[in-house]
Amino acid sequence: MRHIVPAGLDRKEAAVWSKLDPERLPKHIAIIMDGNGRWARRRHLPRVAGHRAGVAAVRSTVETAARIGVESVTLYAFSVENWQRRPELEVDFLMALLRRYLRQEMPTLKRNNIRLEYIGRHHELPPKVRERMAWAQLETAQCTGMRLTLALNYGARSELVDAFNRIVQKAANNGGIEHLTIDEEAVRRHLYTSHMPDPDLVVRTSGEMRLSNFLLWQVAYAEIYVTETLWPDFRGIHLLEAIAEYQKRERRYGGLAPARDHAGSRRV
Ligand code: FPP
Repeated sequence: MRHIVPAGLDRKEAAVWSKLDPERLPKHIAIIMDGNGRWARRRHLPRVAGHRAGVAAVRSTVETAARIGVESVTLYAFSVENWQRRPELEVDFLMALLRRYLRQEMPTLKRNNIRLEYIGRHHELPPKVRERMAWAQLETAQCTGMRLTLALNYGARSELVDAFNRIVQKAANNGGIEHLTIDEEAVRRHLYTSHMPDPDLVVRTSGEMRLSNFLLWQVAYAEIYVTETLWPDFRGIHLLEAIAEYQKRERRYGGLAPARDHAGSRRV
């Protein structure tokens, strides 16, 4: 059956889109943007040139996701490890780039009805960055389309530590921790992402087969798609290709494949 091509897709994107099942889009896509440094090195440019070029990739990917009706995209923009393990000049550049991105991309975000949110330890970011983040979030607060979450100074382990500390703190404030029981739902409710569904699909660019401390709890059942494409070369069409691959996979959540259920297989 032919289905309607969403407005704004170019000819090549429309061709990939026509092979997708619009009923089975991932609701939440989490993206590990990697390969900026290698992209720059191949061109004999400083590493930061790769980060700068990465902004166009963010724009294209985010716009395409919004156009096809993905509910939520989370981008791993800056990890707690980036903060500690990169030269100060590169960190400063990334902070300045983020501020510029938030101002410069505002018309694109609003035109696409995208609501901006953040996860991570923001209180450790420079005040000027935090101010711009708060401004951008407020600017898009009324947008009702896709949720774009930027993971900034984010680490999954620190997220879990923060969650456990909040659980214990709340229990202590409510009469003591003697009767505290922690189950999966309690942990989920205290994650930075408590208000959104878990990612269905994780995309990682530049070929590395790692999760790099990204949303470790939330991606327990996500499909993982790794592409050799370096982040600055990634575009909306590559996201559609990732979704096409996702739709070929069978998600089992630890259960059996449907055909095997009927056959009474004993696989676990
Ligand atoms: C990883 O590449 C990328 C980052 C640490 C930063 C991501 C930032 C951007 C894509 C810039 C634009 C985004 C926003 C939201 C403003 P790497 O430097 O680790 O690459 P390498 O592994 O090839 O060295």
